[in-house]
Amino acid sequence: MLDHGVFFSERSGRVKSSIIRELLKLGNQPGIISLAGGLPDPDLFPIKEFKECMDEALTPVNGKIALQYGETAGYMPFRESMLELSKKDGIDNIDLDNLIITTASQQGISFISQVFIGKGDIIITEKPTYLSAIQSFTTFGAVFKCVNIDEHGAKIDELESILAKLKSEGKTPKFFYTIPTFQNPGGVCMSLERRKRVLELAKEYNFLIVEDNPYGDLRYSGEAVPCLKSLDRENERVIYLRTFSKILAPGNRLGWIVAPKPIIARINLMKQSSDLCSPVIIQMATDFYLKKDYLWPHIEEIREVYSVKCKTMIDAINKHFPKEVKTNVPEGGMFLWCVLPEYIDTQIMFKIAVEEQQVAYIPGSAFYPDGSGNNTLRLNFTKPTLEQIEEGIRRLGTLISEEVKKHG
Ligand SMILES: Cc1ncc(COP(=O)(O)O)c(C=O)c1O
Repeated sequence: MLDHGVFFSERSGRVKSSIIRELLKLGNQPGIISLAGGLPDPDLFPIKEFKECMDEALTPVNGKIALQYGETAGYMPFRESMLELSKKDGIDNIDLDNLIITTASQQGISFISQVFIGKGDIIITEKPTYLSAIQSFTTFGAVFKCVNIDEHGAKIDELESILAKLKSEGKTPKFFYTIPTFQNPGGVCMSLERRKRVLELAKEYNFLIVEDNPYGDLRYSGEAVPCLKSLDRENERVIYLRTFSKILAPGNRLGWIVAPKPIIARINLMKQSSDLCSPVIIQMATDFYLKKDYLWPHIEEIREVYSVKCKTMIDAINKHFPKEVKTNVPEGGMFLWCVLPEYIDTQIMFKIAVEEQQVAYIPGSAFYPDGSGNNTLRLNFTKPTLEQIEEGIRRLGTLISEEVKKHG
């Protein structure tokens, strides 16, 4: 048998298939209530409206553009719309050269890895943080320094100590990757004071900030907090990632990056060699979707449904989880984050959850670049139905209570 391994690059071997992915396959079996994935509710997908927009993109005239190769930076009318949409986030100091369309945020994360990370380069992330960002940064050889989060987002005192220590060793991180608004998986929103301080520190210690914001529009309560990019008045430090995955549909695979012009130009080169351009037909249809004013009423509808689901999950947790479990109450996003007593390993408990209780979650250690967080787990409330949320939490509560009794 030919050993294909001898042909693989060193880089392609840096990411190992995580045990979590194997575990999650178990959670996808029929009959299991999954509170695991980060999926939107498919019953809310605007199928009829999007079909109308696709039909319009496929008229004899539009179809000649929609089915052709497009510009790498994006289909111009759509880029112009993204410029307008960015203004809604308070970003008003940019022009078209500050913006590029991507095949959703994950491609943005991959380009950022390609553009900034060489083997051994230091990056700072929150802890816990988004699993597939950890994977992308790891592929490119990043060395992780991590900052814990609390209910106000990344702990700035920890960030400062990491930066001071690195400086004393003559080292500078490339960037701080943060999901400040309704963090995945933590669900927390970084306070305005901390956002301002992150920007000050970026100037003081000379690093960039990658602000990943897929969940910002999914706010159910509380006051909106300005994104870091809108606070970056000189437009120097923040690279801002946005996506339609959580506000329209992940299957449309569209997102955009707002960043300083030299960075966009470099990302453009990466995109040329990666996929030439994102699908023009989808950009055009999504642009029609925006121009027909479908997006904001749709987001309103999603918010209403998700806020009820979120509350249902919190109420069920209060009813069924033992008091030893600490859960945050998020003001938005798609996740609840649970910290269990230290003697419970949520990876070990996962098998029992699936096999005996037929309920799945994500063991929290998946979100820790250093593999810690064994007593944590993430729950998704957007995909399951209200009945599944009630029943899933009841089952999980029974299991956790048994574990607490065993060890407590
Ligand atoms: C924080 C974060 N960033 C990026 C993504 C990638 O999303 P997409 O590539 O669908 O835009 C996700 C998806 O769950 C996410 O949670």
